[in-house]
Amino acid sequence: MKDNLIIVGLDIGTTKITTVIGEIGADGAVDIIGEGTAPAEGIKRGAVVNLERTTHAIKTSVAAAERVAGVKASEVFVGVSGTHVKAITSHGLAAIRRQQEISRPDVDRAIENARAVPLDPNYEVLHALPQEYVIDGQEGIKNPVGMHGVRLEVDVHIVSASSGPLANLRRCVTEAGLTSRGFVLQALASGLSTLDATEQDSTVVLIDIGGATTDVGVFKRGNLAHSASIPIGADHVTQDIAQILKIPFEEAERVKRKYGAALPELAEPDLTLEIMSGSGTMQAVSAFDLSRLIKPRLAEIFNLVRDEIDGALGPVELIASSVVLTGGGSLLKGTPELSRDRFRLPVRLARPRGIGGLTDIVSSPTHATAVGLALFGVGAGSAVITRRPDMPRVEVVPEVVAPPVDIPVATVAVADSPAPREAREPRKNPSEGGKSWLERIREMFRDWL
Ligand SMILES: Nc1ncnc2c1ncn2[C@@H]1O[C@H](COP(=O)(O)OP(=O)(O)OP(=O)(O)O)[C@@H](O)[C@H]1O
Ligand SMILES: [Mg+2]
Repeated sequence: MKDNLIIVGLDIGTTKITTVIGEIGADGAVDIIGEGTAPAEGIKRGAVVNLERTTHAIKTSVAAAERVAGVKASEVFVGVSGTHVKAITSHGLAAIRRQQEISRPDVDRAIENARAVPLDPNYEVLHALPQEYVIDGQEGIKNPVGMHGVRLEVDVHIVSASSGPLANLRRCVTEAGLTSRGFVLQALASGLSTLDATEQDSTVVLIDIGGATTDVGVFKRGNLAHSASIPIGADHVTQDIAQILKIPFEEAERVKRKYGAALPELAEPDLTLEIMSGSGTMQAVSAFDLSRLIKPRLAEIFNLVRDEIDGALGPVELIASSVVLTGGGSLLKGTPELSRDRFRLPVRLARPRGIGGLTDIVSSPTHATAVGLALFGVGAGSAVITRRPDMPRVEVVPEVVAPPVDIPVATVAVADSPAPREAREPRKNPSEGGKSWLERIREMFRDWL
């Protein structure tokens, strides 16, 4: 009888709630076997404003994913973003005794010292993400254990979130019959699912343009070095169109997706749209003029991202080698071109990668966070065993790898008479450069363990 190692990501976005169920194969490859999306309700800029409606939307999304996967979701990794999230980078130092190799406790001491910064008491630490280590001034060391030196230094990116909004999220997840195994910064999750091997070896700016927020992550050689959440997203573009053309939001959204472009010069030439205003009068708007309404808001988003990075790390074109765009907002025609213009860097529109299974459904920028949450769970070693319907049993989870500091270890799950699984795509080989994707994720986690 085959066991399934299952991992579940729950992306509570501002426009939609997406559940992704992943299965880890014997070879370490991750297949997405379930996906469910429900319109987001009761969420404003990443925070719950209506417990019942959010709980209901979570249930709908999870139930849809369970039906496809034929397994029951019990424990989930939940994405967090919004103005209630704060991130700082702190420096830690540990002295090493002469003639001794650097040990794991030395590394932990350096990280702990970096973590010993006064944080707002109403905030909970979600992640303490070490970047590369420095030994006696020598930079760029990924794993210092076993090396020699007298001075070990590390920068740690500390992400924390306000306790109130976190408690509300936790409550909705619990009310939906699930257990939250960890809260994960959405920018981190999106980076985990989209960055390719070359990008993991350089410094890239990840921009996830969502509905009400734009999440930013600067990844230095695969480590999150800076993050921020900008409270403007692609729904603001829709609102601008609705307000200026005096049309309902839904109509503005349809027009934006179908005819809009981030750069007027990329709009369909000679195309004039007949748009009915809220008051019932017809107006003629060219695709060019529609795009002239769109550009300023997207340009504002990219300018705010630029300012954020310039202020924290220095001029973006000097510190980064490329920009990776994801999130639903990046699907608007011309968005990569506009951002290339703003950042003066190569730009790539990124979708989740390195996975098998239902790739036709989840390989969209809108699913970058949800897939990344599942991959985070894989790296954290928090897969849950479920069994086929004829053998429902409780199993203690074997540790795939030890989890990061902030995530509890033990977990059990019951396969609750799941429905038969639907036909899936044949597994694609996610190996890359001789390493499985799981190995690459584990590598990303190595320093946190
Ligand atoms: N094909 C498309 N063309 C243009 N825009 C699109 C397209 N698909 C989605 N969008 C836009 O993407 C936005 C939603 O993106 P996404 O699904 O990533 O948001 P979310 O995860 O729910 O929100 P957030 O990340 O802010 O919490 C909406 O503003 C929508 O208009
Ligand atoms: Mg999102």
